[in-house]
Amino acid sequence: MNLISSDDLSRDQINRIFKIADDLKDNRVEITIKEHATMALLFEKPSLRTRVSFEVAMAQLGGHSIYLEKQTTHIGTGETLADTARVLSSYCDFIVVRTFEQSEVMEIAENSTAPVINALTDVEHPTQALTDVYTILQHTGKLKDTKIAFLGPVWHNVANSLMLIAAKLGAEVALVGPKDAQPNSIYFNKAREYSKVSFYDSIEEGLEDAEIVYTDTFIDMGHIKGSSDYVKTDQEKHAEELKRQFAPYQLNAKAMSYASKTALVMHDLPAHRGQEITDEMIDGPRSIVWEQAANKLLMAKAILLYLSEGGRSR
Ligand code: CP
Repeated sequence: MNLISSDDLSRDQINRIFKIADDLKDNRVEITIKEHATMALLFEKPSLRTRVSFEVAMAQLGGHSIYLEKQTTHIGTGETLADTARVLSSYCDFIVVRTFEQSEVMEIAENSTAPVINALTDVEHPTQALTDVYTILQHTGKLKDTKIAFLGPVWHNVANSLMLIAAKLGAEVALVGPKDAQPNSIYFNKAREYSKVSFYDSIEEGLEDAEIVYTDTFIDMGHIKGSSDYVKTDQEKHAEELKRQFAPYQLNAKAMSYASKTALVMHDLPAHRGQEITDEMIDGPRSIVWEQAANKLLMAKAILLYLSEGGRSR
């Protein structure tokens, strides 16, 4: 059992993970992770929240973590992902992977005897989406007929995973961005099988009656080479052009004025203040951004326990 894609999870399985999170929060659950469990984190891109929340989660569950920059393993000198996965999974009970290509996480999972968790690829960020939808539920009490507006980079990994998990639980999802920055058609069409999911280039129409307004960085981040050199993504090389294209879709007071009067502000972080979101919105009374970030620890624990029990749905 792995967590590679937001599409790996049925509605019952998502609810099972949320139940574990609730039990952990209320101290109702018996910790059942294997004694001395060990988790390898194989990362090619920078991370604060995902890396630290998984490492702390494993420590609090009584296990141990090993952080590996992909570039400092033999993958960089020609050892295949399959061989790496075979060996790593013979030592470790979980492998958490952050990389560019979704196919790389899939290849690691196919060759691993331990559960593999996708900690972000170019097209998916399922652990983030679980955290986000769980955080929304804590405020709205239900997902069915709750309107979530995603403003800005509607074609990114965060939008893809969020729309699918939220739609599976019955939320209405409005993706709001420039006409020539359409959502990923695979995730968009899949999410529409579960709920009302629409694309708008008009902020006024897209945000109408939204109870959640979510944004993310306009530009995909690059990776770590060795331990210090930063290599830019294609998006980062065209950053100025992208910033101009997305600038009208900033989450600011005017945009929020189109949403429900009680609408809440979300951002998965890191934020580029003044770019995709204003200080007033991220630090304002409607922001649940810090609670959202804090919930990553709870969700990391819930995901590890869920995979430990073999991915049961109840
Ligand atoms: N939201 C998120 O994934 O943050 P990090 O890149 O810091 O892990």
